[in-house]
Amino acid sequence: MTIRPLRVSLRAAQVQRRVEGWVNGAVRLRDRGLAKLRLGGRIADYDDENYSFIGGEAEVLRKRHYDKSLRLLWKAQIEAPWSSFRDATSAEREIRNMALRALTDEERAAREVISSQDYRDMLKREYTLEQRQAIVTLLSAIGHGEAYAWLVSARLLGEVRSTGAKAALTMQVLEEAKHFVVLRELIEAFEVDIPRLPVWEYDLLEAVLAAEGVEKLFGMNVVVEGIALSIFGILADMPGLEILHLFHKDEARHTALPLNYLGEFPMSWWERNSPRRRMGRLRMILPALPLVFMLEKDAATIGIDAFDLGGAILGRASKNAERAGFLTVLPYSALRTEINLVFNAWCFLTRPGHEFRDFIRSGMAATEGHSSPEVTEQAA
Ligand SMILES: [Fe+2]
Ligand SMILES: [Fe+2]
Repeated sequence: MTIRPLRVSLRAAQVQRRVEGWVNGAVRLRDRGLAKLRLGGRIADYDDENYSFIGGEAEVLRKRHYDKSLRLLWKAQIEAPWSSFRDATSAEREIRNMALRALTDEERAAREVISSQDYRDMLKREYTLEQRQAIVTLLSAIGHGEAYAWLVSARLLGEVRSTGAKAALTMQVLEEAKHFVVLRELIEAFEVDIPRLPVWEYDLLEAVLAAEGVEKLFGMNVVVEGIALSIFGILADMPGLEILHLFHKDEARHTALPLNYLGEFPMSWWERNSPRRRMGRLRMILPALPLVFMLEKDAATIGIDAFDLGGAILGRASKNAERAGFLTVLPYSALRTEINLVFNAWCFLTRPGHEFRDFIRSGMAATEGHSSPEVTEQAA
């Protein structure tokens, strides 16, 4: 291809460049000055001179979160064929069809594509009305949380430093959007009333959305996603809920983000230890407690001990918080002991024959797929 350049005035081009240079110098100087005086300045945390975001590349974060998320990205049309989603490409549909053709007749029957109505009928066959309502109560607590996870990750995208961390948060925004819309459709298929946010969770999620900077990572990726992981872990083996295994994998990646991010951009001593921040973290953990009590009846209906769930949430979240350096005004070991005592005291008062139990340990085991015999008996 032959390109024929147009004739323009070289002198005019030089003048334009010089003018741009002067104005640029003045604008950048003004913005640097305003930023120094904390009166504003450049809004974007972007370094155009180095073609990178402030904070540098952070390639490890990008590889562990953005690249990995893209590799593991799942499509609702393939994984939940009963849903209304049409998000698979023709190549992905073809690969799925080829995989189905390679199965034996028996395997194919087990993986038969079921329509939305088939799926709803199956849920009605598998569960009583009371059980469906209980599952929806537990799942909708997470479903509402997914809405906030979407909003919080979108806000964090503008607040984390480095190209790698922004790439990681971009994938989280995408995954939370998918979690919200897919989970809502799954919950609607149960055809029972969907509860509003319990006030304890409302309070927790609003506090996370309002938290400053990386404290959002603590509230969302440590506490809220710790709750989601435990509930997904305990429900994913139930009939019709297998897709929750995929949610679980995504959330596990999200809970690893604070540790990976703070490994690259550590908090200062003051950020870790300031009494206000330590208090704020405890304030974000505490609403999870009454939430656990509130879910006791519904969890028991499907053979799950809510205090196992509470123990698992506390065990998981406190371990992740300790590793990432998010301290509270109380040491986590004391918090685990105290909360375990509160759970046991409640059980002594309300469950005849209750024997003292380490709910942290039994909860971790229960969220791996085993339900509690004590509550199964009581719920029966
Ligand atoms: Fe999520
Ligand atoms: Fe998440």
